[in-house]
Amino acid sequence: MSTLSEEEKEKYLNELFEFLKLPSISADSRYKDSMIKTAKWLSNELIKSGCDSSKVYETDGHPIVYGEKFVDGSFPTILVYGHYDVQPPDPIELWTTPPFEPVIKNTNIHPDGAIFARGACDDKGQVFMHVKAFEQLIKKDKLNCNVKFMIEGEEEVGSENLEKFLLENKSKLNADVILISDTGLSNLKKPTFTIGLRGLSYMEIKITGPNRDLHSGLYGGALANPINILSDMISSLIDEEGKITIPGFYDNVLEIDQSKRESVEEMSKFDNDDFKNSIGLKETKGEKGYSTLERLSIRPTLDVNGIWGGYTGEGSKTVIPSEASAKISMRLVPNQNWEKISELFTNHIKKITPNSVSIDVTTHHGGNPYITPEDFKGYDSAIKAYKDSFGIDPIPQKDGGSIPIVPMFESILGTKTVLMGFGLDSDAIHSPDENYGVKNFFIGIDTIQNFYKHFGN
Ligand code: BES
Ligand code: MN
Ligand code: MN
Repeated sequence: MSTLSEEEKEKYLNELFEFLKLPSISADSRYKDSMIKTAKWLSNELIKSGCDSSKVYETDGHPIVYGEKFVDGSFPTILVYGHYDVQPPDPIELWTTPPFEPVIKNTNIHPDGAIFARGACDDKGQVFMHVKAFEQLIKKDKLNCNVKFMIEGEEEVGSENLEKFLLENKSKLNADVILISDTGLSNLKKPTFTIGLRGLSYMEIKITGPNRDLHSGLYGGALANPINILSDMISSLIDEEGKITIPGFYDNVLEIDQSKRESVEEMSKFDNDDFKNSIGLKETKGEKGYSTLERLSIRPTLDVNGIWGGYTGEGSKTVIPSEASAKISMRLVPNQNWEKISELFTNHIKKITPNSVSIDVTTHHGGNPYITPEDFKGYDSAIKAYKDSFGIDPIPQKDGGSIPIVPMFESILGTKTVLMGFGLDSDAIHSPDENYGVKNFFIGIDTIQNFYKHFGN
């Protein structure tokens, strides 16, 4: 289906490999220089592929890569957003091949090969599809849109400096649509098209008990154990029906009407057994009254992401810990506001903390949910582009993940976003052995070109 020659395919994969070899880990300060190197490499690629200009913008954190090509004042402008930073590769010992030494391997899911490397799917591989789609359009003299690229280096750590960049560069970033490939689809035969993202509120709590770790025999039984207290508090946050117990949590949740819910369920062809099998579970669990697909898309969540305290080393040590902590994420849906939810969480946690311990609550980062509106040309052009490339109408579906900057594109720049992602759930993003189908990469390059075709027309 791809319009690329075999030579071009090989060349594009080799170039992507260069990109993947650069360890651009935003969370780890030891990789600061590596982040700069990656940004410069990408900026140079934008020029090579046909941008009139490109610049690496310094921020208080990691740099932002910007590039643009102006074609004609009467053409619409597409702003491509993505991120060149990646998640840390840990636990590194679980990788079959090293995370920054990309290789193509055949798998059951990708019999035609998948690229194994950190960032192969999230998001370097997907960013690179945009660079190559743009290069192809220029080569074929079919570029019918003005193009701006804005590729940041802090998506995986909360995009804190990008907000400032948006506020300071509103007119420079003026565009008719924001186009992003940083999500996934169901499969290549009957693809879904992402029309929504959940929001996120990421919190940390720390319980402090006695002023030092204590002998659990000499002191045990006479004071509150911070880990026991933390466990009690956490388990009280979700009731038997799977509802989150924080007062006000559901106040602004948009309830979808029954007929719409049924038609989404009918259209999605979501297979519960496939889902369970793919993650090695006998049973699913979640909020009562909602299907698995709904629990993954239109309902908010609360999950502990990490918990620690006390002795966790080899053997045993009899100790009552002085401290216990947990990191908790909440996924949000329209019309919840992440700052409001973080505040409700903080107040509730403080209220349920017993006097036998003290509490500290921190808000890490967050973002609001997003829905792509149906009544604009970007939505329409995306549907047509999938149809051209896959030969079938895509199934619109809300995703469970978050890209916190997306709602800010709307609130700060006033521009709507189209999410055209090509990853699969099995691509193991954020996990060991992250990979991205070679077919997905090439069909992405094709679909993006078709998007331009319809949007610029
Ligand atoms: N690309 C992902 C988000 C994503 C993946 C959305 C698949 C939908 C489908 C992004 O890089 C990511 O990992 N986002 C984080 C939030 C961020 C603030 C760390 C997330 O969703 O946990
Ligand atoms: Mn991403
Ligand atoms: Mn990610």
